[in-house]
Amino acid sequence: MNIGKLQITNPLLLAPMSGYTDSPFRQLCKESGADIVYTEFVSSEGIIRGSEKTYEYLTFKPPEKPIGIQIFGHNPDSMAAAAQYIEENYQPDIIDLNFGCSVRKVIKKNAGAALLKDLDLLESIAAAVVKAVKTPVTAKIRTGWNHQSIVALEVAKRLENAGIKALTIHPRTASDGYRNKANWNIIAEVKQSLKIPVIGNGDIKTPEDVTRMFNVTGCDAVMIGRGAIGNPWIFRQSKDLLEGAPSYASPSVSDQLNMCLRHIQMERKFYDDEHTNRIMKKFYRWYIREFPNASELRNQLMQSATLADTIRIIEESVSDLATSNET
Ligand SMILES: Cc1cc2nc3c(=O)[nH]c(=O)nc-3n(C[C@H](O)[C@H](O)[C@H](O)COP(=O)(O)O)c2cc1C
Repeated sequence: MNIGKLQITNPLLLAPMSGYTDSPFRQLCKESGADIVYTEFVSSEGIIRGSEKTYEYLTFKPPEKPIGIQIFGHNPDSMAAAAQYIEENYQPDIIDLNFGCSVRKVIKKNAGAALLKDLDLLESIAAAVVKAVKTPVTAKIRTGWNHQSIVALEVAKRLENAGIKALTIHPRTASDGYRNKANWNIIAEVKQSLKIPVIGNGDIKTPEDVTRMFNVTGCDAVMIGRGAIGNPWIFRQSKDLLEGAPSYASPSVSDQLNMCLRHIQMERKFYDDEHTNRIMKKFYRWYIREFPNASELRNQLMQSATLADTIRIIEESVSDLATSNET
């Protein structure tokens, strides 16, 4: 796949996920084989207003590159100004436009997936951003507002005409939320009608799903979201299969707990303990899911008041595992 200067074969991308894909998690995924990572969506209006919190979302470290910064908004001028600000101050490899978010507070502002109901505005946002920056601009869409208005093909063509360099499709409608199965056939249809690279996304849970997504849809790249939460190994494992290995190595339960500890330490370099404790509570159930007695350990971690306690609990679990493996 080629996007601007990026040339990567069968690339695997970490999906933008608000509340999850912060710099430490992006770095872990990068180390584990992700080719391109994305920030969570950032409000163009927030960028223009100069909100502190917004700048935190835009910050990334050199090992995260290549990286895409994703923005959302409903006003072409604001989106263009935000993209220019990002280009001047952060220099990501990609600026991605969010036309897929179905969260109420975004829809209410006529942004994200709400733009799938106003294709002229969506197109003018894309054209304004493409015109404003030299950085390659990409976009991420759902297939339509609801099942009575599937517009993926039309949106895809309009975005290609507007100068978008690649298109990610999460093939659900806004009204689906995360219900129903992602309809990979629509990815295949769009792929056949575009010249720019198409990135397939939706319901990748295993390395085998990645191979299947490439084969079934003919897409140029695969983007993984929830399947990578607490499971950064999925990138390396998928690459092994794609490169023809008959199987891939799976992390042991201790590996999973140790990765969780590493994740905590990386978050701690960025944030205070309170923030780290809060964000990590979203990840524990995924890192410990194969631990014998996972629900008891999870309760302890969720109730732990301090990060020091949390680390002690996980370290003790690792050493309990070692002892039980010896006996
Ligand atoms: C918690 C969460 C937050 C998300 N935040 C974003 C976001 O900021 N921008 C975006 O384009 N998509 C966002 N998404 C959608 C994902 O990028 C992805 O399209 C979706 O989860 C389907 O892929 P998956 O089945 O691999 O998870 C989010 C999804 C989840 C679960």
